[in-house]
Amino acid sequence: MHIARTIAEVRGLRRSLGRLGFVPTMGALHAGHMSLVALAAQHADAVAVSVFVNPTQFAPHEDLDRYPRPIEADLAQLEKAGVDLVFLPAVEEIYPAGFETRIEVGSVADRLEGAIRPGHFSGVATVVVKLLNIIAPDFAFFGQKDVQQTRVVRQVVRDLNMPVDIIIGPTVREPDGLALSSRNIYLDPVQRDEARSLFHGLRAAQTAFTSGERDAAKLRALIAAPVQETRGVIDYVSVADPDSLAELDLIGPSGAILSLAARFGATRLLDNVLLRTD
Ligand code: PAJ
Repeated sequence: MHIARTIAEVRGLRRSLGRLGFVPTMGALHAGHMSLVALAAQHADAVAVSVFVNPTQFAPHEDLDRYPRPIEADLAQLEKAGVDLVFLPAVEEIYPAGFETRIEVGSVADRLEGAIRPGHFSGVATVVVKLLNIIAPDFAFFGQKDVQQTRVVRQVVRDLNMPVDIIIGPTVREPDGLALSSRNIYLDPVQRDEARSLFHGLRAAQTAFTSGERDAAKLRALIAAPVQETRGVIDYVSVADPDSLAELDLIGPSGAILSLAARFGATRLLDNVLLRTD
């Protein structure tokens, strides 16, 4: 496994890697990240993973400084999974003195997470474009867990004619339904127990949809109810168009993305499920 800390090292290795699958991460790797690594290995000859806690997607009051960075454990997992290249840049390698350009994405980045975290998706889009330009993969893999991020990345790749296929992997969950997240370690045992409520609400709404419910307001109420029985605080509950993420009144033939964000103490968690009509 090559560990490259500079862009020059990656560029020197790139040709030898053939058809390349790339998984960008911020580290603190768990089974959700590793499922994307496994998916990448199915699609490509070689797999590259970046581990970079990207400062431009964190607001000043957010958890950039305390974001977990267990780099030795991360490298051991990547080695075991047979990853070919790990890109582990310093902040100055990605944002050297004089760096000024930012990618601004349109409406798909302004709603939901974007409304609560202004500038977040501009930071994500900027670093993803840079990483795609550095690694030059044939395929890049993102998790359904961060559904709005997948839409933002697809929009940018399409709008900027980037020569890469974006592939989305399913959300990996704990046995009780909680979506794996590097931030779950912040939860105390009571909050960890309460955090199950995110998926419980989504599942209740999914069941109602399967039984014929198409009224988005009714589904939003079903999604919110389990979290409202805990001390969790809901940031938003959404029933949205799967492509634009615009809120729906009624679910039509293209289905919907059900999503929510809630805070348990200082920890913000997200989850979503896709409803299909076919
Ligand atoms: P990070 O939160 O480390 O996530 C890296 C990738 O793993 C993302 O595509 C995310 O959606 C996926 N992922 C996280 N939890 C998952 C789960 N439970 N199941 C499946 N996939 C999961 O997302 C980022 O980093 C950053 O924004 C990044 C794209 C690297 C840009 O900085």
